[in-house]
This record gives sequence, C-alpha cells and structure tokens, in this order.
Amino acid sequence: MRLVETEAADAAPVAFGINPRETGFERFDFRAIFGNANPVVLEIGSGKGRFLRDSGASRPDTNFLGVEKSLHYYRVIEKRLTSAALPNTRIVNHDALRVLSEMVPDKSISEVHIYFPDPWPRKREQKRRLVRPEIVEQLLRVMLPEALGIYVSDHQEAFVSGREVLAQHFDIEDRNALDSPPRTNYEAKYRAEGRPIYEVRFRIRS
Ligand SMILES: C[S@@+](CC[C@H](N)C(=O)[O-])C[C@H]1O[C@@H](n2cnc3c(N)ncnc32)[C@H](O)[C@@H]1O
Repeated sequence: MRLVETEAADAAPVAFGINPRETGFERFDFRAIFGNANPVVLEIGSGKGRFLRDSGASRPDTNFLGVEKSLHYYRVIEKRLTSAALPNTRIVNHDALRVLSEMVPDKSISEVHIYFPDPWPRKREQKRRLVRPEIVEQLLRVMLPEALGIYVSDHQEAFVSGREVLAQHFDIEDRNALDSPPRTNYEAKYRAEGRPIYEVRFRIRS
C-alpha cells in the first residue's frame, strides 16, 4: 500500500490503492474514503489508469473509483495515482463482480465507464465477458436514477452482445466514439491504428 502525505502536516496519509483481501469486502463508505459527499464515478477494468488520472485531475469535484482485477495493472495504477496525488481517485484490486456485489452501495454511483473490456471471442469463454447479465444486474442496483453509463469497445461482436444485454434493462443511445477525445490507453492506441471503435451510453429507464 503506497501512502502520500497531503499538504497539511497533520493530515492523514492517503492510500490510493484498496486491496479488499487486506481491508475486507465491506460496503464502501464513500464519504469516509474521499472525505466529501461529491458524486462517485466508477470505472471497471482500468488498465494503466489513464482515465482515472486524467479525469481526477480535470474534475476535482468528482470522485473516481477504478476496479482492476490484474495485480500488475493495479500496481501500475496505484503508482500513477500516488505520484499524481489526486485525493479524488482510488483503485480497487479485485474482480468487478465481487467488488460490485459486496462493496458498492445501492444507488451510490453517478457514472459508470467501461472501456475496451477483454472481448473473450471464443464461444466457451464468452461467459467471462464483463458486460453480462450478472454485472448489469449490479449496475442497475448501484447506479443513481439519473446516472450515465458509457461502454466502448473495438470488438464488434463482443460490443453488439454487450449492447444487447444493456438494452434489455437500460435506455441506450449509440454514440460516435470519435466525438470524445481518447479516454484510455487502448482508445488512443486503437484510434492511431485506425480501428473502428463502438460506443453506447446507457441510463436507467425512468
Ligand atoms: C483490454 S484492457 C483495457 C484497459 C483500459 N480500460 C483501456 O481502455 O486502456 C481490459 C482491462 O480490464 C481488466 N478486467 C477485465 N475483466 C475484469 C474484471 N472482471 N474485473 C476487473 N477488471 C477486469 C483487465 O485486467 C484489463 O486491465
């Protein structure tokens, strides 16, 4: 766990990484974690953490929580957030389904961002895809009624299947990903390669 001293000499150090194997799979108290009641944005599958770092810096009045199951990438992100010293960012190291179902409170999330989740193209692996019914059930529980979700992928078949699952429960809106600046490392890389990128936004049906 990396610690950074905040500006006030007597302030508690900030731990940017959350490892629930050490701290327990308990419901987050976001006010206690971030020290404020600002909206909380959830990113699932944060990779190298570009979205968390850039968004945390550009939106200081919003809190950003990333979930990353790979220990290697978790350590990369923890290092980046620690050196950026952004008090409104945290990264959790575990599988998203367990983090969502055991740790994220009901109606606590104002935005959900999912960028380039692993496509698991083989038939027998498709049940591992991130955008699947069990995850969507949790998203419905944790998102605030007015919350926005964004799902972006370069893999057409995986994207269409995720979009269908989302469309069963949310109002969806197809978007041109090129209307936004690249938000993550994969997005920047795939755009530079000229790959097609698909984006859908989703909101809880009113
Ligand atoms: C292809 S990478 C994309 C990374 C980043 N979103 C980007 O666009 O640059 C997918 C990331 O999602 C993470 N991931 C995949 N399944 C996950 C899950 N069930 N829970 C948490 N993280 C997951 C992987 O470890 C990996 O870092």
